Parts: sequence; C-alpha cells; structure tokens
Amino acid sequence: LLLLGIETSCDETAVAVVEDGKRILSNIVLSQVPLHEEFFGVVPEVASRAHDFWLLPVVKTALKKAGISLAEIDAVAVTQGPGLIGALLVGLTAAKTLVATLGVPLVGVDHLQAHIYSAFIGDGLTTPAVALVVSGGHTSLYRVASPIEVELLGRTVDDAAGEAFDKVARMLGLSYPGGPAIEKAAEGGDGSAVNFPRPMLTDESLDFSFSGLKTAVLYHLRGQNAKGPAEPPDDVADIAASFQEAVVDVLVGKCIRALEFTSIRSLTVTGGVAANKRLRQRLVEEAERRNIKLHLPPLALCTDNAAMVAGLGYHLLAAGVSSPLDIDSYTEAKNS
Ligand code: KG4
Ligand code: ZN
Repeated sequence: LLLLGIETSCDETAVAVVEDGKRILSNIVLSQVPLHEEFFGVVPEVASRAHDFWLLPVVKTALKKAGISLAEIDAVAVTQGPGLIGALLVGLTAAKTLVATLGVPLVGVDHLQAHIYSAFIGDGLTTPAVALVVSGGHTSLYRVASPIEVELLGRTVDDAAGEAFDKVARMLGLSYPGGPAIEKAAEGGDGSAVNFPRPMLTDESLDFSFSGLKTAVLYHLRGQNAKGPAEPPDDVADIAASFQEAVVDVLVGKCIRALEFTSIRSLTVTGGVAANKRLRQRLVEEAERRNIKLHLPPLALCTDNAAMVAGLGYHLLAAGVSSPLDIDSYTEAKNS
C-alpha cells in the first residue's frame, strides 16, 4: 500500500510517500526555522500561515520525488495532534480534502506515537521496548509492545528538554534553535565546570522536570534574584557544556530506570533532542555496559517528518483502524 503522510503539528511542513510502512519513496521536510529564529521560538500564527502557503507545493514535490501520481495513493495519514491548533488544522483539512477527492481512507495519527514509529523504520526496533521521545514540545517515556501498542510511563511535568535547550541558549546569547547551538558551544567547554541540578533524577517516578534547571542557569548567570547584567558570560562554553551534561544525565538516568522498572532490554530515543551527540554517545556507552539493545533512528527520522506519520498510518490501517472525515485535531498529549 502507498500512503501519503502529512505532518504540520509545529514548524515543519512535511510530506512523505511510504510503501507498506517501511519503504520511504520520498520524505520532504520544509523547515520554518528561518521564519521563527528572530523570535527565539515558534510563533503559532506564523507557523499556520507558512503551512498554508507551502503544504500543496510540498505535496507535489513529495509525489514527484516518489515518482508517482496522486491517483496512485492508497490512503492518507495525517498528524491529528498534539501540536499547535492552527498548524494541525492546515494539515488535517488538506488530508480530508485529498481523501474526499480520491475516495481513499483517512488515518489520523498521534504525533508522539509517530515519533516512536520512526524507530521501526529501517533496521527496526525489537519489542518489547522502552522509547523516549524528547523534542521541543515533549519529553515522554513509553513501553512499546508494537507500532500501535504503546503505553505512557512518564513525562515532563513542566518544560520539555528541547524547550530548556532553546531557553538556555537564549540566556547565553546563542541562536535558535538552541539545541544545536548549545551542542556546538559546549564542544570546547568543561561539562563539570558548574554543578547544575539534575531535577527528579533520584526520584522513583519516570516523570521529568526541566524548569528548575533552566532557572538554575538563570541564577548562575544573573545572581539569586536574577537581577544581574543580562550580557552573555565569558564562560559560555563551560556553562553550555555543564547544562548539556545535566540534561543528558537526567534523560539517560530515566531511560535506565524505565528499563529496570519494566525489565525490558531494548531502548530507542527519538525526537529533535535525540540528535544531540553527547546524548547519543552516553546512551551508546550505557547500553553497552548494561547489555541493552539500543536503536537510535537516523537524524532525519528523529526530527519532525512525515515518513513516520505515513508509516504508523499503514500499521493502523492494517489493523483495521481508519478515521471518519469529521475527526478533530487535539492540542494536548494523550495520557495513555
Ligand atoms: O522533534 P523536533 O524537530 O520538533 C518538535 O519539537 O516536535 O525537535 C526540536 C527540538 C528543539 O527544541 C531543538 O533545540 C532540539 O530539538 N534539538 C536539539 C538538537 N537538535 C535539535 N537539542 C539538543 N541537541 C541537538 N543537537
Ligand atoms: Zn515532534
């Protein structure tokens, strides 16, 4: 089956054509970063308008790259939520229009479940597995039985890890998005220079919290009442490296706790922050030491894309799940 996948939940306009959930014929991602960088974050209205402007050209490009015509598409999978409401609606409306015109099924897909699915593409994740989805909007741990059977084990009670990277980068005078900027700045730095807190690391739960860590960086830079000068410090590299080390410690520590808690020996980490080299290195070390099978999807599948949406859509369809034309988008992550 040939599925067209559409992803517009945040600031990437993405369309893919995927065969039988695994063979990627095209995977086009139009990043809106240049539109949002001057605001140091995604501006929802700007994102919706850009999706509206670019989605159809991106659909055309994805079909062309795949070498197929619209009439050959067997179903359309689209991100239903969570995400920005206006952004989601652009993708959902386009998907509904396409299926109504073509007379093929529609499959609404959960964005977080789609991120997990990215680990099933290619070499493939062995199940049962623990999955950590860590991005600008989410930091969530799951128990994964199959592509369509996932159970939430824990998630952030405040900021997402990527959001902390973005906010701390801004404090340090670095560019947006903050993750890659901090990673680069940290290269020449000493990760043990500042002992930032590791929030909830010793906690029994599988939840995360990053807002206190972000505040700790602010206090370190501007004093206890955050009233010091706002200029970037001289030791940006050390602070960036120390902050990165704290985030990585928490993410790796919670993955290990989830593996122990579930007695599972297979792990995947995906989402934009999974592009972080220090995180990947630490995960590889810990997995080797503990004899855990680690699967890190290639970077292009870790960040937002529509191949993961089309892929998961295929498995839902194969299990008999499709969506009526009146489905709504949703903005908040599901609890299960
Ligand atoms: O998954 P994604 O592309 O979009 C969603 O948020 O869904 O993730 C974007 C997030 C941003 O917060 C960005 O700063 C972070 O991923 N990120 C990184 C790196 N590359 C992107 N964080 C740490 N290190 C990186 N190399
Ligand atoms: Zn995402």
